[in-house]
Amino acid sequence: MCGIVGYIGHQRAADIIIQGLKRLEYRGYDSAGLSTIENKMFYTSKCKGKISDLQKLPSIVKHNNSIGIGHTRWATHGEPNTNNAHPHHDYDKKFSLIHNGIIENHYSIKEYLLDKGVEFSSDTDTEVLVQFISYLYKNNNLDFYQTVKLALQEVVGTYGIVIMCSDEPQKVIAAKKGSPLLLGIGNDEIFLASDVSAILDHTRNILYLDDDEIVQIESNNYKINHITHEHEIIKDIKEIEYTLDQIEKGNYKHFMLKEIFEQPKSIIDSIRGRIDANNNVKLGGIDDYVSRILDAEHIFITACGTSWHAAQIGSYLLEDILKKPIKVEYASEFRYHNKSVNEKSLVIAISQSGETADTLAAINKAKNKNALTLGIVNVVGSAIARETDCGIYMHAGPEIGVASTKAFTIQVVILTLLANLLAQKKGFKQSKKYLDSLKKIPNLVTELLSMSDDIFNISKSFINAKNFLYLGRGYQFPVALEGALKLKEISYIHAEGYPAAEMKHGPIALIDNKMPVVVIVTEHGFDKILSNIQEVKSRGGKIITISTVDSSILKQLSDYYITLNNCSDIPNALTPLLTSIPLQLLAYHIAVLKGCNVDQPRNLAKSVTVE
Ligand code: G6P
Repeated sequence: MCGIVGYIGHQRAADIIIQGLKRLEYRGYDSAGLSTIENKMFYTSKCKGKISDLQKLPSIVKHNNSIGIGHTRWATHGEPNTNNAHPHHDYDKKFSLIHNGIIENHYSIKEYLLDKGVEFSSDTDTEVLVQFISYLYKNNNLDFYQTVKLALQEVVGTYGIVIMCSDEPQKVIAAKKGSPLLLGIGNDEIFLASDVSAILDHTRNILYLDDDEIVQIESNNYKINHITHEHEIIKDIKEIEYTLDQIEKGNYKHFMLKEIFEQPKSIIDSIRGRIDANNNVKLGGIDDYVSRILDAEHIFITACGTSWHAAQIGSYLLEDILKKPIKVEYASEFRYHNKSVNEKSLVIAISQSGETADTLAAINKAKNKNALTLGIVNVVGSAIARETDCGIYMHAGPEIGVASTKAFTIQVVILTLLANLLAQKKGFKQSKKYLDSLKKIPNLVTELLSMSDDIFNISKSFINAKNFLYLGRGYQFPVALEGALKLKEISYIHAEGYPAAEMKHGPIALIDNKMPVVVIVTEHGFDKILSNIQEVKSRGGKIITISTVDSSILKQLSDYYITLNNCSDIPNALTPLLTSIPLQLLAYHIAVLKGCNVDQPRNLAKSVTVE
């Protein structure tokens, strides 16, 4: 989704901005641009396409100053083209603005401005905002800062904005509501970004803006205020732990492959310090809330995309232990459909980025209803981490590939820890056995990863497939959903996940000798899923089996067979941590063989910060 980079300092701003925008490429975008200011005049370069296209523009050499703003756009209002790319100027070219988010009342503001004779040159809500700021500036006796503040008070919607004004060329103003924005504090220089990875090359000292905050930056000074009050806000600067090699590909061909292979280490990192020598679970971020969690009358888990699949596994884990119904809700629905949420509810939000707009809104609605909110989030200091009452950080390390892999696994690990912590508080003895098994998972995942070449060979048979079906029972049903999502996200092959028994109620009509069916098999419901496989087989479907059970019948029935050895003693509830790995590799290899850009699949964004 859109990315923001800004710079005020002593280096060439264009270089810093382009480097930062490249770091944000993984978020997904379709056009890019930047503005710098010199002698009270804006130099702006923008184009449809990649940052490498932006760098080739002849105008790029004109950016010599050390103040500037840059943007990668993921189209919402208006097609991806040069006119719609950011930065946007007002008609008089007095302002230059970059914006993430959506100005929801842009139609009414535009009508008002059209009435006043203002002319527009793009289809974007962002241009409406900059023209509005310019109109207010011309017609009120206010300075740059006061005008931006006034305009933002009229705006409905979400924004992370950075703006410059040619009358005050030493100053940059930024403000945030709903979209992420942060300041990086360097040596006599200040960076602005929507995502910390954009500026990690320069500083680890980060100051996160909160909603409704506005900051004025001039040389190496900054001043933060609330959009509606006058008093200054003093905030802590946080030191970020990420290192550059965590956000670089290293020797891997793709970030996605690197992240798949990082899973054993990420699992160890996410468990570290959380299980003591006596196998007691300790989760510092929810310590003070455990009794409220156990007393909750209703539990909801809300998330989007891959995180929603982890939530589904979490609901099985928690329900098995707490013997309470757990509802898993798509955040985009739950934010509007939450009538039964009240002060006796626990709402768990799962989000890799911690910035997903729907998940954030769902949490805020739950808070308004006095529910207890718990975040399972990867990005430290992100909005969902800050908004929830309590939480558990994932410690998966940064995930750059748009298709989530290690984040999914770690979300399941965290949910396993949470379920086991609650189990221990309720006196369930078998929890310690579970935790012994959890500690074995990193080695088993390493063994699975060594099958990558075998899976590559299987993948060669499917590059021309048009559809795929994924089947699983119990804990393997969400794994099937996630396997199907992975494949469609990066290879553009249509794929669906189904509870294996549901196949009879529809998808079986699709089965013919061109239909590959991935079946995920564990001890649990083994005989029943064998029958499902036979149903596929007798209709000519091609069966790819991923199994934790080494069975000769299964092998005979399968066209392709991947067995996970040494895991017969792993409890059923932990098997998704294993079975999901070959599915990630299958999707990866098929997509790479098809020549797809697996790290930046078309139309997708890593962090969806608009509704
Ligand atoms: C986007 C990403 C997915 C991710 C989903 C939820 O669609 O492409 O990979 O699962 O958002 O993101 P979150 O950051 O909330 O986990």
